[in-house]
Amino acid sequence: MTNRFTRIGAAALALLVAGGIGVAMAQGDSLAARKANFKMAADAMKAVKGVADAGGPTAAAVPEAEKIVQMARANVGHFPAGSGAGDTKAKPEIWTDKADFDAKFKNLETASLKLVDVAKAGDAKALGAQFGAVGGTCKACHDVYRK
Ligand code: HEC
Repeated sequence: MTNRFTRIGAAALALLVAGGIGVAMAQGDSLAARKANFKMAADAMKAVKGVADAGGPTAAAVPEAEKIVQMARANVGHFPAGSGAGDTKAKPEIWTDKADFDAKFKNLETASLKLVDVAKAGDAKALGAQFGAVGGTCKACHDVYRK
């Protein structure tokens, strides 16, 4: 019996220690993950612009626009408290104005969902216009929350 309790105690302690390390790693992971996602979205934006400038066919922009939606949905969760340190351009205001910051990701999600629809619809001019709208939501956040 005593042995069993000791084992459970040790297991619980191991979990606590692992949990602490897990949080530190999660912060580092979040930083790397959000940067990788932003880069992917920037590449996707370039691809969409290329399609719009070439006058279509806009179907080629559908998977690219979907990548931007995915980035908006993923990166809103990659700014946990404490991830503002290290090699980052994230401003501290992100964590004091978190609701507004998160809302800006929501604006990007909405605009990029529309980009998917417009890409599916086939009008390259409309694609170019919506590309501009999406870019505006990137800038709206960078102007306030990126160093
Ligand atoms: C809600 C805020 C927000 C939105 C929306 C947003 N960004 Fe960012 N972006 C940031 C922040 C904050 C950083 C700095 C991240 C860091 O260094 O930790 C960043 C960094 C980046 C980087 C640099 C990544 C690196 O390797 O350091 C690129 C590229 C980028 N964003 C592109 C985009 C594009 C393209 C869009 C729109 C499709 C976009 N961002 C939308 C907040 C945002």
